[in-house]
Amino acid sequence: MYVGEGFGKIILFGEHFVVHGKPAIAAGISNRVRVKIKHSKKNEIITDYPVNPKLSISAIKAVEKAMKTKEKFKVYFDGNLPTSGGLGSSAAFCVALARAISHYQAKSLTSEEINSIAFEGEKVFHGNPSGVDNTAATYGGALLFRKGEKHFKRIKLGKPLHLVVANTGKIGKTKKLVSSVKQRKEKFPQLLDSIFDSANKLVFRALIALKVGDLKKVGELMDINHGLLSSIGVSSEKNEELIHLFRHYGALGAKITGAGGGGSCIALAKNSTHANQICKKVKHYGFEGFCTKVD
Ligand code: PMV
Repeated sequence: MYVGEGFGKIILFGEHFVVHGKPAIAAGISNRVRVKIKHSKKNEIITDYPVNPKLSISAIKAVEKAMKTKEKFKVYFDGNLPTSGGLGSSAAFCVALARAISHYQAKSLTSEEINSIAFEGEKVFHGNPSGVDNTAATYGGALLFRKGEKHFKRIKLGKPLHLVVANTGKIGKTKKLVSSVKQRKEKFPQLLDSIFDSANKLVFRALIALKVGDLKKVGELMDINHGLLSSIGVSSEKNEELIHLFRHYGALGAKITGAGGGGSCIALAKNSTHANQICKKVKHYGFEGFCTKVD
């Protein structure tokens, strides 16, 4: 058996806008996907996760093609990252698979190579991905990303971020949501252009706030970012319910993370004790959640 891993991720600022060339700030989280592979006559996926087997096999093929191998594998997929929750599980799966195959081939690939191979698999899942998910899944840490740019920038945080990640219980369909944003953009070009410009400016403000460790400002900017995401149509009743609960329990800021339409939301807490308190409260209301620290 050959093993590979990929980080889950959260997007702190700029999801969706990043698909259209605006910057985004993402961070790897310690929850991850693990893939084990065994040489086989045909590609197969074995997992307890609720995956779409056909789509997963197509992504496996895309990764194999990018790695120029004709070999086929039994792919065992597990880990501790929830799937379809806006936490980049498909990208983490592709990264983990590319790493496992590189071990099988006894090749030591650079992270840059792993990232670009995983991007080919991610395209199968999401059609027109920006590449932010596979980049965060490969490298971890906090990073500033822009689609099409070869290099991303690592961000040195002034203070660690204590976050609560909670799932709405509703599956967010990234491909569909990305295309609905495109449609809205085509319908109201001028209006949407100014929203996209605000998203662009917001990321640079957030970058400064993150670097100096101004958590209050980071939280406020997360709230504004969520408003922009609502205006492009990717929030849902469940996202709003969760975000208002987060705010009710004193979160410094809260927003969707990832594609939305359900999926996951994040809240910035004042410290780790506060994060645990918020997490307990939202669990009481029936949401699955966990605390994570980005530093
Ligand atoms: O698929 P998710 O929910 O992990 O998030 C994808 C992030 C988007 O900005 C919505 C799409 C992309 O390719 O960047």
